[in-house]
Amino acid sequence: MNINLKTERLFLRPLTLSDAKEFFAYRSDAETNKYQGWIPQTLDDVEAFMAKTAKQINLPDTWFQCAVIEKKSQKLVGDIGLHFIGPENKQLELGCTLDKNHQNQGYATEALARIIDFAFIDLNKHRIMASIDPNNLPSIHLVERLGFRKEAHFVKSLYIKGCWTDDLIYALLYNDWEKLSSQ
Ligand SMILES: CC(C)(COP(=O)(O)OP(=O)(O)OC[C@H]1O[C@@H](n2cnc3c(N)ncnc32)[C@H](O)[C@@H]1OP(=O)(O)O)[C@@H](O)C(=O)NCCC(=O)NCCS
Repeated sequence: MNINLKTERLFLRPLTLSDAKEFFAYRSDAETNKYQGWIPQTLDDVEAFMAKTAKQINLPDTWFQCAVIEKKSQKLVGDIGLHFIGPENKQLELGCTLDKNHQNQGYATEALARIIDFAFIDLNKHRIMASIDPNNLPSIHLVERLGFRKEAHFVKSLYIKGCWTDDLIYALLYNDWEKLSSQ
């Protein structure tokens, strides 16, 4: 099973090795991605990362990487990580990164809204969650815009780049999403 979705301005499809250079160009930007645990230093790092990610969606306990393609330029403008959690595989963790030149245009909201619909309708998920650094305000605004609820603030619970970091957990249940969708 794989991913092949459309929105008004975007295509969402599996990220592949042919995307490696474009992916490296925005993912290696250490300032824009300062709240992320992994920043590639070389193209080899990207290739190793891609080799480890799942080749199809919805396999329990795997991460899958989805490419966000801008329809008008046909370019890779970002990516979405999908973590299929646990052996029962009813929960999904999402992570989103946009090239800084394509932020603040609603692309992340548009892409994630489509992925969320797909996860609840087609993949029958029960809960979708995100783990966010409390200083990462654009990410917090993004998940709140999509209707996620703040469930937890863990203190110095993640060891990232040599520092103990706080972690916010946001989540959206299928029932919450159903209510939001019918409004
Ligand atoms: C997280 C991230 C993807 C959010 O990107 P973003 O550009 O803020 O989100 P969107 O693409 O949905 O754009 C929404 C913003 O564009 C604005 N906007 C402008 N034109 C718009 C349009 N036509 N439609 C919708 N929104 C529009 C919105 O008002 C909103 O701004 P606001 O939050 O100040 O109100 C981005 O900050 C990022 O890649 N950060 C680095 C990686 C990272 O830390 N990822 C999180 C780790 S999981």
